[in-house]
Amino acid sequence: MATAALKAIRDSAPAVLPSLLLCDFGDLKGEVAELSAAGAGILHLDVMDGNFVPNLTYGMPIVEGLRRHTDLPLDVHLMINDPLAYAKPMVDAGADMLTFHVEAVRDPVATAGKLKELGVGVGIALNPETPLASFGEAISMVDMALVMSVEAGFGGQAFNPIALEKLRSLRQDYPDLLLEIDGGIDVDTISLARAAGCDLFVVGSAIFRQDSYLAAIADLNAGIQAATGKNADNDSAPGWKQEDHS
Ligand code: DX5
Ligand code: ZN
Repeated sequence: MATAALKAIRDSAPAVLPSLLLCDFGDLKGEVAELSAAGAGILHLDVMDGNFVPNLTYGMPIVEGLRRHTDLPLDVHLMINDPLAYAKPMVDAGADMLTFHVEAVRDPVATAGKLKELGVGVGIALNPETPLASFGEAISMVDMALVMSVEAGFGGQAFNPIALEKLRSLRQDYPDLLLEIDGGIDVDTISLARAAGCDLFVVGSAIFRQDSYLAAIADLNAGIQAATGKNADNDSAPGWKQEDHS
């Protein structure tokens, strides 16, 4: 399942990923149905442990419950101190992509290697203040790099443009790596991130605090397209082929 889901994620890029942090947890089934109908092709799940970040969300039962309501790939963002302790239960619950924070682990290479052994897509994330060099050798082992454009922990924060420099640098050095951005993405910042070479755009407030998910996702997709036009004009990301993410 995970291999097919990873291919589906790659094939659907560039894509808007609703972050379920701000959804109605009293009606998960309805939320998933509405997001699917609105064109969401991947769901982003924010797992927080109240320790790595000062916020607490949910674990395997919610992932497993969502899995029963959708075939969409589940992209699980682990904001927890011990990702390996929960990795296999998360895969068993239905996670297709597991992303860990480089700040949370002592040995990112070992963590990435153990996650890969589970047959799941593997992502590595870093917060705005963490330098790209922290990825070390692990960057060449993973399927995706998640560049945070807010400090991990809460929805509704302001976009930090430091993420754009990191995206440009990663896109240049790793033309085939999936790049994801998370935090403060709206119709304006999504264009900036796309022009910097990003593939996957995690969105909370700009979907869940709008009246219509359909209209919100359409507007965000228009923002992606606007950047595609600009990028073709100025060729700002030479190593990045827009239509080729395979
Ligand atoms: C923040 C989470 C995000 C968050 C994004 O720690 O990882 O996924 O839900 O929300 P917005 O789009 O409101 O910044
Ligand atoms: Zn997230």
